[in-house]
Amino acid sequence: MNILSPSILAADFTILGEQLLAVDKAGAQYVHIDVMDGVFVPSISYGMPLIRSIRKATDKVFDVHLMIEKPERYIETFADCGADIITFHLEATDSVAEVIKKIHGLGLKAGIAIKPGTPVEMFGPYLDTADMLLVMTVEPGFGGQAYMETCTEKIRAARKMADESGRHIDVQVDGGINRENIGTVLEAGANVIALGSAVFEGDIEDNVRCFLEILSR
Ligand code: DX5
Ligand code: ZN
Repeated sequence: MNILSPSILAADFTILGEQLLAVDKAGAQYVHIDVMDGVFVPSISYGMPLIRSIRKATDKVFDVHLMIEKPERYIETFADCGADIITFHLEATDSVAEVIKKIHGLGLKAGIAIKPGTPVEMFGPYLDTADMLLVMTVEPGFGGQAYMETCTEKIRAARKMADESGRHIDVQVDGGINRENIGTVLEAGANVIALGSAVFEGDIEDNVRCFLEILSR
């Protein structure tokens, strides 16, 4: 199934509650929440208090994308704040298998992510446990960047790995996706689409409906 995961990094935080209601009302299935620590990526975004607070505003699946060093330190905390899926970067920890286990132990889904420069083969050892493979299509750290064409083949390779695993594994893409290139990532095999600016710039409900229509084709 194809899933839309609007990234609130691009939202207007003065009216975040209203904007969450808009994506919810228009039917987006997930809410993508980018957590940055200023170490793994150059920027710092937001963290636990924000997630805990917006958990009261919507029942949508919270798709938490951790761009932080040593994510093992915070898995219980993000679970407690209301995450449903926790995705962390393979580059950020030496204990990937343990982190996946920890996430599963808390009853949540576990995603593993790679930056554009990390080979897709890095997913290999975790195909029997991960629930989602996130192929970053920009350098993580900022919204509003341009899609990196070099990542299209990585999406295709991740989809092949997911299918060959014999398990249900989602393939998520994140960064620079818009109405022009969403067809490319879908064709390459992505089925969970994180979208920041393309949802939150302009009319949010119209944007969500338009992307959901594309995803349902
Ligand atoms: C970037 C974040 C993305 C970001 C995407 O590091 O992981 O989720 O919000 O924003 P757009 O869609 O504007 O590239
Ligand atoms: Zn993200």
